Amino acid sequence: MDSDPIVARLRAAGCVFAEDEAAFIRRHLDDPHDIERAVTSRASGLPLEHAVGAAEFAGAILAVADGVFVPRRRAETLAHTAAAQHPTARVVVDLGCGCGALAASMTTRLPSARVHAVDIDPTSVVVARLNGRRYGFAAHHGSWWDGLPSDLRGRVDLAVGYLPHVPTHEVRHIHADFRAHEPLGAVDGGSDGLDHLRTVLAGLPDWLAPGGRFVTLLSAEQARRIDGEVLARVDGDAVVAFG
Ligand SMILES: C[S@@+](CC[C@H](N)C(=O)[O-])C[C@H]1O[C@@H](n2cnc3c(N)ncnc32)[C@H](O)[C@@H]1O
Repeated sequence: MDSDPIVARLRAAGCVFAEDEAAFIRRHLDDPHDIERAVTSRASGLPLEHAVGAAEFAGAILAVADGVFVPRRRAETLAHTAAAQHPTARVVVDLGCGCGALAASMTTRLPSARVHAVDIDPTSVVVARLNGRRYGFAAHHGSWWDGLPSDLRGRVDLAVGYLPHVPTHEVRHIHADFRAHEPLGAVDGGSDGLDHLRTVLAGLPDWLAPGGRFVTLLSAEQARRIDGEVLARVDGDAVVAFG
């Protein structure tokens, strides 16, 4: 029997990591009404970060909202591996920014860089703008390179992107919690998962500065099939660089 009432409610609702989740809720919320609302939402099946309205990513705390992709732990490896590719980068872009987790991480790791983020999902852009005010990046609405200010063309030292890359036929294997609350467009990468990657790669000659790089996260199997440089591996995925 749990003596902590929040842990007890979360455990009764089937949350396996009830203690960790209760601690997360208390770390981010003070007001008892907000805590009550978050526990009720979580117990009814909302992902923890959506229930609380916050996500932790590589030392940053980001606002998130229902319908916006929750930053994944494995993307932290993408963030630090990408930043190490160009420590003197002056122009950095986050392609498919969601709430702006990678962009926020770039502003703290690359303090001399001006960071721009872009997403096609309007709700994500609203949330990314909120986070951008806190962490110092600009968020734009649009599709990949076309959504960025045109004066960045040919000047991007480092592009980072956790693109939707799950093959369409595998999307149904994603955990049900996430399928219900995150947009399909955040994960579905077309028949082999690489449709968006091909679009982004086609823009590299136009948008990257000389010596610029694009760094992304793919499954290990996808990484074997494409012509990029594997920089790191994490949880069966690969951080891959192009350019
Ligand atoms: C896997 S999520 C990653 C989000 C964020 N970078 C993160 O790590 O939390 C992919 C993101 O790409 C965005 N996206 C999908 N198609 C896009 C497009 N054509 N142009 C820009 N962003 C797109 C989705 O809306 C989603 O936010």
